[in-house]
Amino acid sequence: MEETQKMLEKDVSRRSFLKTTGIGLGVTAGALLFGTGIAGAQTQDGVVTESPLPYAELDPEEARLRAHAAYFRAGCSYAVFYALVSMLRDKVGGPYNQIPLRMLGYGRGGAASWGTLCGTLNGAGAAINLVASDADTNKLLGDLIGWYTITPFPSQESNDVAVAQGYKYDAKAPISAALATSVSNSPLCHASVAAWIKKSGFKASAPERAERCARLCGDVAFKAITMLNTWKAGTFAATFKVSGETAGCLSCHSDDQVGKMACTSCHEPH
Ligand code: HEC
Ligand code: HEC
Repeated sequence: MEETQKMLEKDVSRRSFLKTTGIGLGVTAGALLFGTGIAGAQTQDGVVTESPLPYAELDPEEARLRAHAAYFRAGCSYAVFYALVSMLRDKVGGPYNQIPLRMLGYGRGGAASWGTLCGTLNGAGAAINLVASDADTNKLLGDLIGWYTITPFPSQESNDVAVAQGYKYDAKAPISAALATSVSNSPLCHASVAAWIKKSGFKASAPERAERCARLCGDVAFKAITMLNTWKAGTFAATFKVSGETAGCLSCHSDDQVGKMACTSCHEPH
């Protein structure tokens, strides 16, 4: 955590990055939008723009490590938001320095521990909407949510980092064993965590369950950045499609309910 903090405060690396890669457009846009220099003094009295902020390609593996460590500070939603926005601070600076990273703390445990939308998706969505138009956010976040519902977590990759003891920003050495994986079939924290508990045999209060959610934060941060990078490059294409079964339900129930969640995770088919 301390190390991450230090990195965040390292204006030097930010400046040298800007110099060496010359992401001039993003920088200029950021500076103009905010009416201030990129890494220097910030205005404290101006109103922040409502336009999407400049995005610069980020490193998804770095995001994985930051999100994992951040989970143990303020939960899943904060963790993913923190990973993305702290990296945008490093790379773009400007307005990102004015966004409080703690603002997604409410999303933990599916919002104040209610088990609704998985906090990782909430945090990713907030960060995505900072950089993308509402229409693009719908596409990106919609696809991210779909991917989440059908992907086994924690991923092999996130387990591998743990086994290699690669979560270098964690304040305390994390559990390094590979953990059981489960598919949520749902964007809900409730279903996601319960499915994993059933599969792994660990209780909700077990440190392994927290570690599972920390790895999940890394997985979602990684995926969100991978998607944003392709979006930035102009090559993003949504890939998620609802299951045939859900599509069948929707063919009759498109106007008496709202959503794309797997219907039979809650309703009996008829
Ligand atoms: C061929 C059209 C059709 C399909 C396909 C269909 N439904 Fe229905 N469903 C209906 C009709 C008609 C009703 C009765 C509506 C009413 O009573 O207002 C209904 C009622 C329901 C209800 C209301 C509760 C109830 O039992 O009366 C639920 C929930 C529901 N469907 C869920 C589903 C799910 C989940 C699927 C997919 C597995 C599905 N439906 C597929 C036509 C369909
Ligand atoms: C997370 C659980 C969950 C999922 C997933 C879900 N529903 Fe529901 N659905 C509910 C609940 C809870 C209600 C409210 C039931 C009530 O008030 O009787 C409801 C209500 C409905 C109703 C109205 C029921 C009625 O009695 O008239 C329909 C129709 C319906 N859902 C269809 C769907 C379809 C189609 C899908 C998939 C696209 C779906 N639901 C996914 C939980 C869910």
